Amino acid sequence: METVVIDHPLVSHKLTALRDVRTDSPTFRRLADELVTLLAYEATRDVRVDEVTVQTPLAPAPGVRLAKPVPLVVPILRAGLGMLEGMTRLIPTSEVGFIGMVRDERTLTVTTYANRLPDDLTGRQCYVLDPMLATGGTLATALRLLLDRGASHATALCLLAAPEGLAALRERLGEHAARVRIVTAAVDERLNESGFIMPGLGDAGDRLYG
Ligand code: PRP
Repeated sequence: METVVIDHPLVSHKLTALRDVRTDSPTFRRLADELVTLLAYEATRDVRVDEVTVQTPLAPAPGVRLAKPVPLVVPILRAGLGMLEGMTRLIPTSEVGFIGMVRDERTLTVTTYANRLPDDLTGRQCYVLDPMLATGGTLATALRLLLDRGASHATALCLLAAPEGLAALRERLGEHAARVRIVTAAVDERLNESGFIMPGLGDAGDRLYG
């Protein structure tokens, strides 16, 4: 499992504003959207393309087009929905599947309450959207679901990750880990005793949607 931390001043600037407790919901939504597009630029570096030739007004020119089947983008409800537009802005032709998951705030165990994914993901490239990688339980369940259905690769885009969650995720993915990449704006210091990323940005779902 490869973890890519985006080192870019604009990413840090937007993340800092997201962390700020004074940032209200409308601003938080806008910043999350902008930040995802920046993460998506790096996350899609491996997207499959076919070589093509186009005719310019002057001559034939070699180029590329997104290969079929198109990538599958999977926001994890609820908070991942706040990342969907920022991602599809970059790949408007992508297909979108949905997974709904919630973490019990006391036990930190994850329940899947919605699953609207294509049954067969053989050979598909998947981009999973979830702002927070805390204990890693949510992403481990979601990524396994995609890889068990045949996805060739899965890249998770997270605004923030905790070191404990990254280690746990790698462990829980087992042999699937080789086909997973995590792209995040930052890896924070630690998880607190309630399973929140520290210093983090609070509860992303609540800050997006109240
Ligand atoms: C939060 C967050 C992630 C998950 C991370 O969602 O958006 O999905 O927790 O935690 P983990 O890495 O420890 O599994 P939450 O369960 O609060 O649901 P929400 O998106 O509906 O707010």
